[in-house]
Amino acid sequence: MVDQPLREIADERDVRIGAALAPGSLRSDPSYWKRAKDEFNAITPENALKMGPLRPSPKTYDFTDADAIVNFGAAHDKYVRGHTLVWHNQKPDWFEAWEHTDDQIRTFLRDHIHTVAGRYRAKIDAWDVVNEAIADDGSLRETVWSEALGEEYLDLAFEWASEATDADLYYNDYGADAINEKSDAIYDLLEGMLDRGIPVDGVGLQLHALGDHPDPESIGENIERFRELGLDVQITEMDVAFHRGEVPDDPLEVQADYYRDVFEACLDAGCETIVTWGVADASTWLRGFADFPERYTGDPLLFDERYDPKPAYDAVRAVLED
Ligand code: XIL
Repeated sequence: MVDQPLREIADERDVRIGAALAPGSLRSDPSYWKRAKDEFNAITPENALKMGPLRPSPKTYDFTDADAIVNFGAAHDKYVRGHTLVWHNQKPDWFEAWEHTDDQIRTFLRDHIHTVAGRYRAKIDAWDVVNEAIADDGSLRETVWSEALGEEYLDLAFEWASEATDADLYYNDYGADAINEKSDAIYDLLEGMLDRGIPVDGVGLQLHALGDHPDPESIGENIERFRELGLDVQITEMDVAFHRGEVPDDPLEVQADYYRDVFEACLDAGCETIVTWGVADASTWLRGFADFPERYTGDPLLFDERYDPKPAYDAVRAVLED
């Protein structure tokens, strides 16, 4: 008997297991396409909805890649996460040289959010409206958005998004998976936004466990406190690697155990959507981004580079079947 794919098990249990998708692989690699289709019931475009890829010039949009991924999601009945409307990274190349006034930034950002969230109104289920606005010490990160609009840019971004879409609106960040200084700061930020009536629906915990593996129990407690605030919580970008100098003897087993512990803690705490940051090790961002290839092992996902399931896949499957 052929094993039931992960997505069917997740569908039956009414939870979501997702993967970040890249347009090139989706178009050219049948194994990638098949795993993406069969094994996941949620997807996130890994880069295609970021401002840089979407905005070749100040007044134009190129939706080719974003459409390809979002339409794949719609065609195969997947939950689609939009990532991301407002971020300080991956802005367009021309942005740096643009001599703008604060007011121009405001108009530009509002139009961007209205256009992009509006285009996918019927197809995107949840948006990371703002990504990584809090610095590692818990202060507001200084970005082009905060410089032009002040801290209010977060409120504005969520309000503008809510004008254009009925999708659930998320704040998303890294390093805030467990209870720590940064997740405390995000808690305060979101509590304030809710008090002001800002339409924020959820918080996304990225969970890039690259070497440091946050304590699953603390992740569960963190999820619970956000849920008590009235927010939904999703794990949005999970991957699990090791520092090159600290690889255990049995890395695939340790990785599988960690996936299992995190999935159990999350589901127990009421987080029902967990997205992994890629389909297979063959194209993980850890193999190409900055100095990551030297720093971290490059096999953080559920499928290996031949698209075969890893021990982590079996571990996740066992949790979902439980
Ligand atoms: C990463 C992509 O995976 C890479 O392909 C790209 O070169 C850089 O961005 N936090 C996020 C994601 O919110 O958008 C990042 O994705 C990983 C860290």
